[in-house]
Amino acid sequence: MGFGFASELEVRGGRRLEGTLVLQGSKNSALPIMAASLLLDGMSVLENCPDILDVREMLAIINGVGGCQGEESCGFTNEGLVLFHNKVDGVPDYESCMRFRASSILMGALLATAGFFAMPYPGGCKIGRRPLDYHIDGLRALGASVEEKDGMLVGCAGRLKGGFYRFPYPSVGALENLLLAAVKAEGESVFENCAREPEIADLCDFLIKAGADIDGAGTDTIRVRGVGRLCGIRFKIPGDRIVAGTYMTACAVAGGNIRLCNIEAKRLECVTDLLKKTGCHIFTDGNINEIIILSDGRRRALNYVETGPYPGFSTDMQPQITALSAFSAGSCRIRDRVFEARYSTARELEKLGAKVAADGDSIIITGGESLHGGIVGASDLRCGAALVIAALGIHGKTVITDCAYIMRGYEDIQRDLEQLGADILWRTKKEGDAGGR
Ligand code: UD1
Repeated sequence: MGFGFASELEVRGGRRLEGTLVLQGSKNSALPIMAASLLLDGMSVLENCPDILDVREMLAIINGVGGCQGEESCGFTNEGLVLFHNKVDGVPDYESCMRFRASSILMGALLATAGFFAMPYPGGCKIGRRPLDYHIDGLRALGASVEEKDGMLVGCAGRLKGGFYRFPYPSVGALENLLLAAVKAEGESVFENCAREPEIADLCDFLIKAGADIDGAGTDTIRVRGVGRLCGIRFKIPGDRIVAGTYMTACAVAGGNIRLCNIEAKRLECVTDLLKKTGCHIFTDGNINEIIILSDGRRRALNYVETGPYPGFSTDMQPQITALSAFSAGSCRIRDRVFEARYSTARELEKLGAKVAADGDSIIITGGESLHGGIVGASDLRCGAALVIAALGIHGKTVITDCAYIMRGYEDIQRDLEQLGADILWRTKKEGDAGGR
């Protein structure tokens, strides 16, 4: 399915999922690594880079700031995503930045290359308050001046200097910005209370392979000693743990037996533990990066699920587990401690007959009643994926609208689930059933 075309999915649920999928590369690893490519001299090739909307947006921005046009621009080839640049300019395309949140991770890279940036506050999925204060304070700690003027963020730095920043709360994006600002800064930087998400370790692996001097990636304290030069490299983007978790949860809801390849099971331990509690059988093989999940479609309720920074349960899997809970025998209290307003999935599930109650900063979802088909709308990327999961468990037809959100992070959720035996079709908004059966 090409981008910008289909925006609705039609699902007839009730079919078990069977088969094998090779997972796409990780969105949240690919995006900061693409920003990092601006710091490298020469060409880089990202193997297994997912061809998704957010990567296409980042690509357009990178071609713009990197002065690459037409045939001389970065893009997908048979070998992977090829990235290079000419002289870097600090003003990324305004509209593109407004369209997705990860544009904010360009601030550090642009300061380190162009010496300045001017960009709008980024847009992206509407999942609650997403301030940039840690990004800004952290960049200031490295010697940059960063100001907000009329909705624009403007930063400049002569040569960035090593510095110290302790994150008030572990932020993935802010740490990525600071790493990109620090790797070529003068002297040593120390960051404390760092995010430990695997995608941080992936970015550090990429930078170290390119010549950076970084210690402590994946721990809560990271030290960076600035180096003069980084060189273009070839790098394989690891499999996407959230896409893997989405398909595992789909199997838990629909029942079945699926094998997922190209995924490091350790990255999914929290999801695996939860799904086992619901009654799924899960087998992992760390040597060959595979996960097998078996579900008879009967699910025990999880009593309480709360999200937190890695290795806690990921907020990006909360909507999917909310969908699963709508089918489980019993009640589950769900509390998103990372993005406190991320409950739009539950509100949409109510339209399909789910019982949901708000309780302070949590929701309580009571499953066991049979849900019915209907029309629901994706309000963000993972909400869209969660609604697809719910639709797979419903005997009847469900239409999910606004699915362009899903294309931000899934190469083709329809292709993947159809390969596993689901009855799922893209529809176009204007032409109703034109893509239909
Ligand atoms: C990244 C992921 C996103 C995931 C999230 C949390 C990418 C492209 N996106 O988003 O999929 O859901 O991590 O795992 O990798 N915060 C502040 N001030 C800041 C920055 C963050 O208060 O300056 C707060 C946020 O509001 C949130 C928490 O810190 O409550 C964590 O957010 P953060 O890790 O920064 O999320 P993102 O990097 O935007």
